[in-house]
Amino acid sequence: MARTPLFVALLAAVNCAAAAKWKGEVKKVDGATYQCKCYSDNSCWPTNAEWNALNKTVGDALQIAIPPGAPCHKMLGNSTTSVYSEAACAEVKANWINEQWLTDHPIANLWPLYTNNTCLPSDDPSIPCTRGFYGEYVILAKTKEQIKTGIDFARERNLRLIIRNTGHDFMGRSTGFGSLIINTHSFKDVKFLKTYSGPGNWTGSAALVGAGVQGRELFRHAFAQKPPVVIVGGECPTVGWGGGYIQGGGHGPLTSIYGMGADNVLSFDAITVNGEYVTANAEENADLYWALKGGGPSTFAVVVSITVKTFPEVPTAGTIININSTHTNDSAVLNKGFHIFHNLANHYTDNGMFVYFELGPGPGRLHIAPLVGPNMDEMKLNEVLKPLFDQLDEAKIPHDRHTRAFPTFFEFYIDMFEDEQPNQNSIVGGRLFTRKDLDDGADKVADAIIFASNNPTPNNVGLSVGHIVDPGHGVPYADNAINNKWRNSSSFVITNVIVSGLESWDEKKQLENVQTNVVGKRLREAGPDGATYVNEGDLNEPDWQQSYWGDKYPRLLEIRKKWDPKGVLYTKTTPGTEDWEVLDYGTKLCKKVS
Ligand SMILES: Cc1cc2nc3c(=O)[nH]c(=O)nc-3n(C[C@H](O)[C@H](O)[C@H](O)COP(=O)(O)OP(=O)(O)OC[C@H]3O[C@@H](n4cnc5c(N)ncnc54)[C@H](O)[C@@H]3O)c2cc1C
Ligand SMILES: *[C@@H]1O[C@H](CO)[C@@H](O)[C@H](O)[C@H]1NC(C)=O
Ligand SMILES: *[C@@H]1O[C@H](CO)[C@@H](O)[C@H](O)[C@H]1NC(C)=O
Ligand SMILES: *[C@@H]1O[C@H](CO)[C@@H](O)[C@H](O)[C@H]1NC(C)=O
Ligand SMILES: *[C@@H]1O[C@H](CO)[C@@H](O)[C@H](O)[C@H]1NC(C)=O
Ligand SMILES: *[C@@H]1O[C@H](CO)[C@@H](O)[C@H](O)[C@H]1NC(C)=O
Ligand SMILES: *[C@@H]1O[C@H](CO)[C@@H](O)[C@H](O)[C@H]1NC(C)=O
Ligand SMILES: *[C@@H]1O[C@H](CO)[C@@H](O)[C@H](O)[C@H]1NC(C)=O
Repeated sequence: MARTPLFVALLAAVNCAAAAKWKGEVKKVDGATYQCKCYSDNSCWPTNAEWNALNKTVGDALQIAIPPGAPCHKMLGNSTTSVYSEAACAEVKANWINEQWLTDHPIANLWPLYTNNTCLPSDDPSIPCTRGFYGEYVILAKTKEQIKTGIDFARERNLRLIIRNTGHDFMGRSTGFGSLIINTHSFKDVKFLKTYSGPGNWTGSAALVGAGVQGRELFRHAFAQKPPVVIVGGECPTVGWGGGYIQGGGHGPLTSIYGMGADNVLSFDAITVNGEYVTANAEENADLYWALKGGGPSTFAVVVSITVKTFPEVPTAGTIININSTHTNDSAVLNKGFHIFHNLANHYTDNGMFVYFELGPGPGRLHIAPLVGPNMDEMKLNEVLKPLFDQLDEAKIPHDRHTRAFPTFFEFYIDMFEDEQPNQNSIVGGRLFTRKDLDDGADKVADAIIFASNNPTPNNVGLSVGHIVDPGHGVPYADNAINNKWRNSSSFVITNVIVSGLESWDEKKQLENVQTNVVGKRLREAGPDGATYVNEGDLNEPDWQQSYWGDKYPRLLEIRKKWDPKGVLYTKTTPGTEDWEVLDYGTKLCKKVS
């Protein structure tokens, strides 16, 4: 049937009425007017009958969002509902620093600061559990139809929509007050192809990876192939490879020889904010394909699966170095050791290496675990690292070191990388230093990292997590949304201002200011040629558009306006979110309208 102008006009009128019905509050802040999403205390919030109807449509996959610590509390909010259970509470406590357990939970966030430190597993069950910044309802999706239904419901009802994969995000971007959450953790299918024949010029091997697949899980599948293959992924075993990792760009231990995670993506299957199933690759929806590769998570569409290049396995060697209180309590000695190690960053990346390290807090601990030599045996790695070993020995820096080699990257990875600890409270920032920054002032860069790792404020210690990595050296150029600065990167550091989480709102704001304007300022001064990384950065980064994406930003903004003009999706500091703000002490998401 051809659509008559009258039909179109009627349709527009209906849409408009629907939009009016679901309008949230209007708020005035500092002379500006904001229009908010619908929340449970607004008349536009869906009725119980409507939630029940949604539950039917998604085949009973809708649940009330219950914080992971809830079994330790006799009251959940004001309600008489309680999930209190001594046994379940004991399980929560036993798993509070277990990353896999937390990622398997429907809504848990690994970093409690972003939940308002709410409903912790306390010993006193009479303390009520409040939802804090957690959402209200969650769809535990197992099919793409369930995801689509959730997106449609949130769009039509003007609800805050959160896509939650693992809850791993350092910037809290999978948690949102008062939201409808779609959990994508169950999308675990992985299929391997010997030869890829889709759009693009790749005819090598590939894998089709579900959005919920996690790092080590993916590496295991790849290693089980005959012959075994590798896929570029992060160093952390439980980060969601097909979720935020790829959409932010994704660095990892094989990046210096095979590029960034997103460089290797051949195709996405996704669902748009209008609820349409789309494929995005070199031929279809090429703009979306470009943007999903590094343009920011939860920004352009909801990803369901990803087709990615796989590569041959490589023998890999690694070296671990420790300098800590078992060796010295003299911070000057430790700092000298850190300078020697870090000043060689360009040398490591020139040799196709990746390095993971942790530094801090004072009097000091440097844990380099490991320096990664892909395609190297023990002799070769020791040869590449000779300048490091010689300088440490010459300067008489007390330390421990050992090098080991493995026939494959996978065996190396399982043996030499360590798991991290979740459930810590920190305000995160960071910086990517380029090769030029290191050439121009390696000592200044090292000093800035030492500063960030120790006592950035009189009362708060720091901690830095570093990655020496360069996806631009000997790796073919890939055209995508990843900041060009990555192509000349040398060292990327995440900085933490460690907090208790119990600070008042104002104190938290002051500490955020320390991260941004004290630590961050020092990092920017030491790395004027550098940039920042959207997946592991400061939510208050000044000039974030330029800092996260450089000259790619204008195109990303255009693509965002095309695929999500109304802001169905939202995460702070992603393209096109300039007018949006979370008001009322971290709760209501609203758009500035005048
Ligand atoms: C301990 C640790 C180690 C890390 N190591 C690395 C590393 O080695 N390299 C690296 O590059 N990064 C690393 N990261 C950062 C990591 O890439 C980001 O935290 C990333 O956002 C995690 O994605 P996720 O899907 O697992 O997390 P979630 O917290 O579930 O989601 C993160 C963001 O992605 C969005 N999202 C998730 N799934 C989808 C989807 N299907 N469609 C659309 N949006 C989606 C969410 O809405 C949210 O905005 C690390 C993080 C941690 C905590
Ligand atoms: C959805 O339906 C299932 C099955 O009846 C039920 O267990 C669940 O509690 C319902 N969800 C909500 C939010 O009521
Ligand atoms: C809890 O109850 C009090 C008093 O009835 C009410 O003011 C408050 O809004 C309720 N809070 C929630 C989260 O429902
Ligand atoms: C967050 O925590 C603070 C301090 O405990 C509290 O005053 C505030 O009400 C909490 N916010 C929410 C949304 O729970
Ligand atoms: C594939 O290769 C051809 C010829 O070299 C080139 O013109 C085209 O741009 C390439 N396509 C992609 C998607 O890289
Ligand atoms: C450093 O101090 C700790 C605590 O006092 C002590 O146990 C350790 O032996 C010291 N280390 C050295 C190398 O002296
Ligand atoms: C300190 O160094 C020792 C010796 O190398 C190592 O076994 C230990 O794990 C290190 N401690 C920390 C906290 O890194
Ligand atoms: C990388 O550095 C080289 C040499 O300094 C420079 O020519 C090139 O333009 C840089 N590339 C990017 C993307 O900044």
